[in-house]
Amino acid sequence: MKTFEFKSEKQAFYIAEAYKTLRTNITFCGDDVKVIAVTSCMPNDGKSELSWNVALNMAEAGKKVLLLDADLRKSVHVRRLGIKEDIMFGLSHFLSGQADINDVFYQSSFPNLYTIFAGSVPPNPAELLGNKRFEALLKVMRNSFDYIIIDTPPLGSVIDSAIVSSFCDGAILVISQGRISYKFAREVKAQLEKSNCRILGVILNKVDIREKGGYYKSYGYGKKYGYGYGKKYGYGYGYGYGYEYGSSSNQTKKSEKE
Ligand SMILES: Nc1ncnc2c1ncn2[C@@H]1O[C@H](COP(=O)(O)OP(=O)(O)OP(=O)(O)O)[C@@H](O)[C@H]1O
Ligand SMILES: [Mg+2]
Repeated sequence: MKTFEFKSEKQAFYIAEAYKTLRTNITFCGDDVKVIAVTSCMPNDGKSELSWNVALNMAEAGKKVLLLDADLRKSVHVRRLGIKEDIMFGLSHFLSGQADINDVFYQSSFPNLYTIFAGSVPPNPAELLGNKRFEALLKVMRNSFDYIIIDTPPLGSVIDSAIVSSFCDGAILVISQGRISYKFAREVKAQLEKSNCRILGVILNKVDIREKGGYYKSYGYGKKYGYGYGKKYGYGYGYGYGYEYGSSSNQTKKSEKE
């Protein structure tokens, strides 16, 4: 099996606590919830970061976890994790029949944590995700893992995550604080519901904890969580999704500066 080195960094206490709360709440969704899509309304809401951290957190708790990167348009994990190994193939190669499962399946150096990276950007991501190979992959993987966490593109920009969610047991919707209208959030939620996937909850992300008066108030209980980094951050960040499905809030800038 292919492997890659990964060193986990210690998180601030309140961030670690928020992830533990999230993990616990996912666990309480029931043991029939194994395959979980993470989506959001807009680019830059924190889906990729959250997906990875949820997967890592569950692996830390002894669960066998697969992080499946289904953002075939703009994957960040290989770069963000600083992976030195050459990742030749990913999900797009598997779905298009250019690679088989052993070529794309990676074990991380962190116990219990496995990944399938996105692979090269294909010309037809939504079509690939809707094909039989994706469904078959999830069928096989669900027998081998306790949880499969799937990172996806924003549903307010492209339809991919609704397609992915239709094969999942549940979806998590990430919403950045103060960024989108209630109406837009409802539209995206309605779109997600059309995929017949259970919405496990909404994560209020990028919460400005100074505004909220401390992390105790930065996340709620039940189906709503959130965390912030304790400082103001801006959104002067571009993104690169096409405009295939969507809403008037989708103003696409072309450059990505991270
Ligand atoms: N809770 C948070 N507070 C502050 N910054 C955050 C938070 N979560 C993520 N970020 C930062 O926001 C940026 C975007 O995060 P990420 O790539 O995870 O978003 P995304 O929703 O996956 O974006 P995309 O839709 O483009 O895939 C990154 O620089 C990340 O470090
Ligand atoms: Mg992402």
